[in-house]
Amino acid sequence: MRPGTRIVLGVSGGIAAYKAVEVCRQLVDAGAHVSPVLTEDALRFVGALTFSALASEPARTSLWDGPDLIPHTRLGQRADLIVIAPATARVIAKYAAGISDDLLTATLLATRAPVVVCPAMHTEMWEHPSVQDNLATLRARGVHIVDPESGRLAGGDEGTGRLADPARIVAAIDAVLGPGDLDGVHVVVTAGGTREPIDPVRFIGNRSSGKQGHALADEAAGRGARVTLITTSERAASAGVDARRVETAAEMEAAVLDVAADADVVIMAAAVADFRPKASAAQKIKKAEGVPEVVLEATTDILAELGRRKRPGQVLVGFAAETDDVRAQAADKLRRKRLDLIVANDVTAPGAGFSHDTNEVVILGADGLEQNVGLRDKRGVAREVLDVVVPLLRRTGA
Ligand code: CTP
Repeated sequence: MRPGTRIVLGVSGGIAAYKAVEVCRQLVDAGAHVSPVLTEDALRFVGALTFSALASEPARTSLWDGPDLIPHTRLGQRADLIVIAPATARVIAKYAAGISDDLLTATLLATRAPVVVCPAMHTEMWEHPSVQDNLATLRARGVHIVDPESGRLAGGDEGTGRLADPARIVAAIDAVLGPGDLDGVHVVVTAGGTREPIDPVRFIGNRSSGKQGHALADEAAGRGARVTLITTSERAASAGVDARRVETAAEMEAAVLDVAADADVVIMAAAVADFRPKASAAQKIKKAEGVPEVVLEATTDILAELGRRKRPGQVLVGFAAETDDVRAQAADKLRRKRLDLIVANDVTAPGAGFSHDTNEVVILGADGLEQNVGLRDKRGVAREVLDVVVPLLRRTGA
């Protein structure tokens, strides 16, 4: 399994819910980012706390009680895969019928990710035509079913209906995920805004939050890439991302140039300062000293430098945060900095740009590509950008 793969683990209310704890643990051990979602009935068999303690984030149990206003769409859109283990006859029926009356079934309808259903129930229920018909419907829609095993069931009965062994479930998930389209590719991503010190407590900064760069790093890792993330942000990177923290443009320059020669793809999503104070005071500047005069000097344009050093086959992606004449300004940067792609956004558009969770961009290519990406979460934008990068890599044979 690729590190950071986002898996929603749905647990419904059957006695086998206790085995889902082991599925959760094995997925986390394999490097996945696991978000547990428990139905109300599941809570009769296992505690949410058990999953919260083992998973990558606290277990969710309701559409209404969490901090998110719309948890099902966030979970569904971000997931690389959803697995339901155990899946009761009831959850299977609801999913087949499109009923979305709790967080788990709503998440199932709000996703385009592959879904793995692991039924567990008594033999009579398993063999009931309604259950089999519902499973046939799901199969026909491309849902993957991990058939239950035969053995001892609750109450001492023997027969088919026992939840598949956790290792088998994890193997089935691995098979569904398959190799990523960035397997074996080294991607370098920069994120966040640099801080240029005036003195030990003051700096010149910008509004970049690092969210878009981190989303790119997470998405690339989820698709199999080896990712080096050079970031000014404190936010956590997903497992498998080699995150290196920097603060100033000079530190970012050194860190990027150190790894760029080996990179197949470099994505400069960071907002690098164009100017920095020529000198930074060793001690805090006091008001009593009067208003300081801060003399600025230019920083290195890292992206332009990468353009000069670019080796054949390397794909270079820039970002252009603009406030006016977005396309023309971005197209100009694409040419000047010798890029393959530039991701341009109008940071004044509603819901786009700095610190928002969403973004709306246009991707311009040196080959004439012009692709509008409407408003979506930053992971979704990352997905679109990498969808454009992958064929470029194939074309250049990197
Ligand atoms: N960039 C960089 N190094 C810098 C400044 C910017 O690598 N010192 C990169 C950013 O990471 C981003 C792109 O260049 O990918 C954005 O360029 P920008 O600074 O907006 O363009 P400029 O050429 O500086 O043009 P402008 O005068 O419009 O700011």
